[in-house]
Amino acid sequence: MLTRPDVAVVGAGPVGLAIAWRCAQRGLRVVVHDPAPGSGASHVAAGMLSPVAEAYFGEHVLTGLLAASAARWPAFAAELAEAVGTGFGYRTEGTIVVGLTGDDLAEARRLWSYQQGLGLPITPLRPSELRDREPALALRVRGGAVAPGDHQVDPRRLVGALRAAAEKAGATLVPDAVGALSDVDAGVTVVAAGCGAAALTGLPVRPVKGQVLRLRAPGGDPPGFRHVIRGYADGESVYLVPRGSGEVVVGATVEERGDTAVTAGAVLRLLRAAVGLVPELAEYDLAEASAGLRPGTPDNAPILGPLPGQPGVLAATGHHRHGIVLTPVTADLITELIVTGEGNPLLTPFTPDRFTGDPHGPGPFAGARTPGPAGPEPTSEEDRWN
Ligand code: GLY
Repeated sequence: MLTRPDVAVVGAGPVGLAIAWRCAQRGLRVVVHDPAPGSGASHVAAGMLSPVAEAYFGEHVLTGLLAASAARWPAFAAELAEAVGTGFGYRTEGTIVVGLTGDDLAEARRLWSYQQGLGLPITPLRPSELRDREPALALRVRGGAVAPGDHQVDPRRLVGALRAAAEKAGATLVPDAVGALSDVDAGVTVVAAGCGAAALTGLPVRPVKGQVLRLRAPGGDPPGFRHVIRGYADGESVYLVPRGSGEVVVGATVEERGDTAVTAGAVLRLLRAAVGLVPELAEYDLAEASAGLRPGTPDNAPILGPLPGQPGVLAATGHHRHGIVLTPVTADLITELIVTGEGNPLLTPFTPDRFTGDPHGPGPFAGARTPGPAGPEPTSEEDRWN
């Protein structure tokens, strides 16, 4: 490209490509840098759009952003499908959460009580209702609940669709690796490089390993269940994501380490939990075992917005366990910021300045939000914690 781009996006995962698509739609000249588009965390991700089942204790501010993004998914999916003329495995059957043993059910119930307390849509089911909805569940399963608004999409197909949409809208993909932000010449640079954002920006993004299996139903049939099934099975947490193609994604470990080795122990635990909940999975082919690196942050929330001390650089990273569900809201808010110069209030809790420029993040006793060089002083105790 001869003319200087308005926007350079570093990273062609779903978040980077969706930002490129949205910016190109607004008439901006966009370049996306990535030597291997879609080869990061999204290549391994299951694609659950789970604002409810992934609403965890102590993360209610993040849960608000998950819910805001999940609410955008139906229109986002429809617009993307219209733009590229292909599907990407977007499915809306909902999610069932189960406990295999009494102890597992007690753990599941505690979390869904918390989620109900936040006003989130999750409804306990009697065992007979559970089996009416999903006959493939093991008879041993003690109970469960349904989160009808927790959907799914196939991240590998999503990357293909977003890439096609971004290019169709005028964005250019350049297959080069960006070693330093000073190598990029653009009006605005958006760092959407997942774990790679740490080296480029000094932001406290760390790899959190997830090992994931892909099973395949025999004979080319679709899987024998339609919902995403999340569960606790003899103390193991597992999720099962059925695809129309016959694939079932089984995930995932959560490990504080940065390698991508697949270990026998993790495969054993995932398979034991999966087959414990849905016995027919024992007959499926084991098609793939892989590991990816989630971009984790000190507060498990994404880092979105201007990088303090680096004019013209925006972060869109640190999506940890939620990159796929957060793709629409991230793309919309970052594009709005670029086009209007105004930060949407939804961004406020997630801006980079909460980490004060210390590459290791705030110390263990630091406040959840501390003002950085570009951040305003909180005006009240409520602002400080929101
Ligand atoms: N959101 C699923 C995972 O991180 O494993």
